[in-house]
This record gives sequence, structure tokens and C-alpha cells, in this order.
Amino acid sequence: MDTFLFFMRTLWIYYNASWVIENTEHYQNKWLMFLWFMMIYLIPLLFYRPGYIKLIKFFIVEALLTGSMFFYMMAQFQIIGAYDFLYLPLIMIAYVCQIRPYLWIGMFTSIFIFLTGTWLGNHFTENFISIAINTTLFYMMGFCLGRVTIINNKNKELINSIQEKNKALEQYSRRIEELTIMEERNRVSQDLHDSVGHIFTSVITSLDALPFVMRANQQEAEESIREIANLARNGLSDVRKTIHQISPTENRQPLSHSFQQVISEFMKHTGTNVDFKIEGPEKEIGERIKFTFIRCLQEGLTNAIKHGRATQIFVRVTFNEAALQLEIKDNGIGIDSLNLGFGLQGMKDRITALNGVVYIESERNQGTELRCSIPLAKEVMWND
Ligand SMILES: Nc1ncnc2c1ncn2[C@@H]1O[C@H](COP(=O)(O)OP(=O)(O)O)[C@@H](O)[C@H]1O
Ligand SMILES: [Mg+2]
Repeated sequence: MDTFLFFMRTLWIYYNASWVIENTEHYQNKWLMFLWFMMIYLIPLLFYRPGYIKLIKFFIVEALLTGSMFFYMMAQFQIIGAYDFLYLPLIMIAYVCQIRPYLWIGMFTSIFIFLTGTWLGNHFTENFISIAINTTLFYMMGFCLGRVTIINNKNKELINSIQEKNKALEQYSRRIEELTIMEERNRVSQDLHDSVGHIFTSVITSLDALPFVMRANQQEAEESIREIANLARNGLSDVRKTIHQISPTENRQPLSHSFQQVISEFMKHTGTNVDFKIEGPEKEIGERIKFTFIRCLQEGLTNAIKHGRATQIFVRVTFNEAALQLEIKDNGIGIDSLNLGFGLQGMKDRITALNGVVYIESERNQGTELRCSIPLAKEVMWND
């Protein structure tokens, strides 16, 4: 729009200047007129051109320069055609004066110029009303153009900001996707670590003991081999379940049953004695908590013989009003200084994700005690 007005203004100056200069009598006056028109054309350009506007300064020079030329033309020639000269400056003034108080200043200045010029040209005749209507129409046209430009600019800004927001959203969703993939990858590797680590520890311990059993009792050894094969098979299906992201506790048996199963298999294959107790009335708990606790149990048992070389382990599950607690205590070598590995870190992550806490207490040669606790109330209600 700015460029269009600039172009119109150039044509308007050319048209009016050539008419006025042609109708000016003396050679010197022609030059004066030429200079005046050049000023009318160039000075406002200092303050308003496509992409640049100094509103107040432009308004003042435009009103002064074109106003004075209009007065001169009216006083000098007293022709109706002089109004044609006024239309474009009025459009320009209305176009730029959009916001109060300029809106009023622009309007009153235009009325003043129009009336003064009419008075100078003696045009308060029967034509006056139609000329006034014409002039008003031009002024309104300029005003509407200004409004449209403002709305247009606002729309452009809006579109830009929407595009920026869209870009930010896209980035955000990509980030979420990455995080979800990472979390899922972590979960799967955690599951693999826990199940595979647990099964392998059991299988290796059983295999280590096998030569002795074989020498002592052939039949028992065969039985033991079958059990090891079963264990490996179970391990394989466990891994498959993890890979297919199926919860191994989908059969919805109570926590105590699952614990009993894990513990008796562990005892059978590692020859380690595990003392298992449940305290408090068993409640129905969510699958997620159950799954987490089974993983903690497996990790705790595995650690007890893998790191602690324990021979006796105590496992106690306590159902409280508000919390579920798991304690795993062993008589192993204890921990000198604790550095969380993959197993314990995963346990901590899982438990804290359920708003729970993990404590580890240990002294050298005094065994290790691991305690996990999860608040219950909400999860019981959700029963995921
Ligand atoms: N029951 C335990 N007895 C002795 N040391 C333990 C026991 N549990 C954990 N640890 C110590 O904590 C460290 C971290 O354990 P963990 O996070 O389970 O690692 P990993 O994934 O290698 O099993 C182990 O390297 C070990 O030194
Ligand atoms: Mg471990």
C-alpha cells in the first residue's frame, strides 16, 4: 500500500505541477512554481516513504506544503479543478492519521484546509455541497485504506507468530518423541538387565554345582539338568515378554504368589536360603507396583549372592495402611562404599517414579539391608 501511494503521489505531482506551470505567466514565476512543487514532492518523502514513517513530521509538512499550494491555486485561479489537487493529500493524511489524537487532528486540519481554500476561491456556491461530499469520500477512502493496512499488518504479525509457535511446537513434540523413545529404551534395557541377569545368575550357580551333584548322585544330577533347562526356558520367555513389552505379571496373581514363585526358583537354583514373610493383610495392588516390586526382589536377591556372596537372605513384605514396603536383608560381605550400578539405579528410578523411596544400609561383613517403600492409596484406587 505504501508503494502504491508513493507511486500515485508521483503521478499526482507530475500532473498538477505541469498544469500549474503551464498556466503561470512569467518565466520567473514558472521556476518558482517548479521549486515549490519539488518541495511538495520531496520534503514529505524525507518522513514517509515505503517502509519508513515519521508520522508527526510527515503530517505537518504535508499539511503545510499542500495546504499552502491549494490556497495559492484557489486564490490565483479560482477554478473547481483546484480541488482535484487536494484529494490525494487528503487521502494521505487520512491514511496516516489512524490513531487518536491524530485521527481528530488530521480530520480537523483537512476541514480547515478545505474550508479556507473554498473561501479563498469563492466557491461557497450551489456546487459546494457536492464538492464537500466528494472531498469527504476521498478522505474516508484514505482512512479505510489505512485501516486495511493496519489490519493486514496485524494479520501478518499473527501469522508469523503462529508459524513461530508451530515451529516451537514441532520441536517440542520431536523432543517428547525422543524422550519417550529413550525412556522406553531404558525400560527395555532395564527389564533385560533384571530378568536376564537374574536367570543367568541362577543358571550359572546351578551349573557350577552340577559336577559335584553328578559325582554324588546321577539321578539328582539329571533332575537338576532338567530344572536348569526349565529355568533357561522361563528366562527365554521372560526375555520374549520384555521384547514384546508384555508385563510378566499379566496373570494378575497376588503379589505374595509371584514373590513365592521367584523366591522358590531362586532358592532351588542357587542353593541360597531365603526366609520370606508377609506382614499385614495383603491388599490388591496395581500391576505396575507389583511388577516394580518383583523386579526389585529379583535385583535384591541377585545382588545378595552376586556381590554379597550371601548364604542367607531375609525377605519381608509389609502391607501398611498407606504404604507397601519390601525389605531384603542378607548376611553377605556388605558394601564398602556404595556406587549405584545399573541394577540399583534402575530400582531407584522405578521406585521414585511411583513416589516411593529406596534405602540401603550396609556395613562391612555385616550384610546388606535394602528397603523399598511405595505409598499405596492412589495406586490401589487406580488399579492399573
Ligand atoms: N547385597 C549386596 N552386597 C554387597 N554389595 C552390594 C550388594 N548390592 C549391591 N552391592 C554393591 O553395589 C554395587 C551396585 O549394585 P548394582 O547397582 O546392582 O550393580 P549391578 O547392576 O552391577 O548389579 C555393586 O557393584 C556392589 O558393589
Ligand atoms: Mg545388581
